[in-house]
Amino acid sequence: MFRDKIELKDIEKIDPEYRDLLGRVLTIQADCEIGGPHLYVEDILPAAPTKIDQLIVARTAAEEVDHFRKMARILGDIGLDVSYVLSWPNQKRYVEAFRGKITTWEDFAVFGLLIDRVGRYQLEEYVGCTYAPLDRILPDVLKEEEGHLDYGTNKTAEMAAKGGEAKERVQKALNYWYVKGLDMFGHSESRRSERYIYWGLKRRTNAQARQEYMKEVNSLIEGMGLEVPDPNAGRLYF
Ligand SMILES: [Fe+2]
Ligand SMILES: [Fe+2]
Repeated sequence: MFRDKIELKDIEKIDPEYRDLLGRVLTIQADCEIGGPHLYVEDILPAAPTKIDQLIVARTAAEEVDHFRKMARILGDIGLDVSYVLSWPNQKRYVEAFRGKITTWEDFAVFGLLIDRVGRYQLEEYVGCTYAPLDRILPDVLKEEEGHLDYGTNKTAEMAAKGGEAKERVQKALNYWYVKGLDMFGHSESRRSERYIYWGLKRRTNAQARQEYMKEVNSLIEGMGLEVPDPNAGRLYF
């Protein structure tokens, strides 16, 4: 297991696999960061029910753009230009969850509850990682991500508590995003995921992280009086 702390100046000296893996995971991370605002700003920002909600949507989007910038800077330093993901269409995003469009408040809330939470899990993989420039940006990014998922969680709980049709709409959104969230952890039998762990770039295997995530979200969903969706229906990766 590799546990040295690597700075930018050291990256040329170690096995190219290290740079390849770092470049790969951060390119996907950068695409997901900017992918969020592209899903919801257009329809959700002008349709916010209150001024505070509108401010929060705008701030969330601004923070995601900043997360993108931070990832893009680290990638730029190791010679990878990811500016193309700024303008490519949603359908091209690396991760399925970011390929559609969010047009309802139920979807926006559940996206925060489930997908921003996957984002937190993914960022937590890098806490204390061997690539020091990445490790250094994490505290701020994680703090903001926590705000996004708390907002999504509270909004989802509020809508579920109304019961009736409102609750049914939330359940529908939950059924849609739940499996998308589970898929974001990737294949359980992934050789690459073992290489990330070997190089100290991730802490958990895909399967471990997904397991912990399910435990956390399932209890939140049940606590809101909603049904935990079928974890296998419509999944792409197991
Ligand atoms: Fe983010
Ligand atoms: Fe977020």
